[in-house]
Amino acid sequence: MRDNPEFRAEERVNQGLLGQWYAVCKSVQVRDGEPHAVKALGRDLVLWRDEAGKLQCLEDYCPHRGALLSRGEVHDGFIACRYHGVTLDGSGKVVRVPAMPECALEGRRPVTAYAVDESRDAVFVYFPSLDKPDAPPLPLPAEFTSDEWTSFLCVSPWACNYRYAIDNLADPMHGSYLHSDSFTLAYGAKQDLMRIDPTQDGFIVTRTAQVGENFDWTEMVTETAAPYCRLDIPYPPKGGPGGPFRIIGFTTPVDEHNCIVFFWRMRKVSGTAREAWRFLYRTYLDERHWHVLEQDREMLVNMPDDARKREMLYQHDIGVTRIRRIMLNKAKAQVATEDAAQTRSAG
Ligand code: FES
Ligand SMILES: [Fe+2]
Repeated sequence: MRDNPEFRAEERVNQGLLGQWYAVCKSVQVRDGEPHAVKALGRDLVLWRDEAGKLQCLEDYCPHRGALLSRGEVHDGFIACRYHGVTLDGSGKVVRVPAMPECALEGRRPVTAYAVDESRDAVFVYFPSLDKPDAPPLPLPAEFTSDEWTSFLCVSPWACNYRYAIDNLADPMHGSYLHSDSFTLAYGAKQDLMRIDPTQDGFIVTRTAQVGENFDWTEMVTETAAPYCRLDIPYPPKGGPGGPFRIIGFTTPVDEHNCIVFFWRMRKVSGTAREAWRFLYRTYLDERHWHVLEQDREMLVNMPDDARKREMLYQHDIGVTRIRRIMLNKAKAQVATEDAAQTRSAG
């Protein structure tokens, strides 16, 4: 089984594609002077800030005897293991072995370092693949780098494989059923057909009959080193100032049975309208949106892990089918590259 490239490609998708940036936590969780542990793609990592406040990320493993570095301390911008004080820099190099003068460990680089960046209140880490070992600059949605958009980041751990969260986003039709009791999602037709429109860097899955009324479409941005999705929820006038309520979603596999969803709730508003919107959001809308998100979480975490094996898909699932195919093809390419490298080194 493990020699079968098809099986390994499927396994790779389940664990998380490599050669990508993933959101791993909120920026505020990495406080000055304190290590912070995260888990993503089955790997334990430690994050901390150096003296300039710049994020550093290593595998959470002390090279001396394997203690968790995240249980250590930050000194002079380095991370020191609490067990015997071995100290590493952000490149994974041992800079000090305080218990042993001129220890041979000093100067060696036995720990894997990860590229790390942050944007809009979240920390992103790059997980290299064999064919893309070096992190490209973190590519971000245009809304993130524009001052016109204001955002609230909402982060939620879900006890399901991340693919369920992605499938859910590629399926706008569920809005009219699962969220039929919500503020805006109650509107619109209960029947429809779905269509796919390719874009430069992915595709849009959209309802054909219902336009501008509800959660009508999702844009899946796949051809980037930090895949995400974008969707709009049109608001009635009492939803406050600004255009549609936009959601940008990133999904991160923690392990095969857990993920974290990162949803930025955004609105294009400026000046005093922006302040009015932020106040309205905090006091009134945030709770409603958590309610909607909880409906998604509840539904997904209670689905069996192997639901995919017994599905009976119909026309509305074209977005789900498309995103799965894209991810599987990427996984197949990664596995093929790894196999070719192994064959070369064996020969
Ligand atoms: S295990 Fe970390 S210093 Fe010994
Ligand atoms: Fe939903």
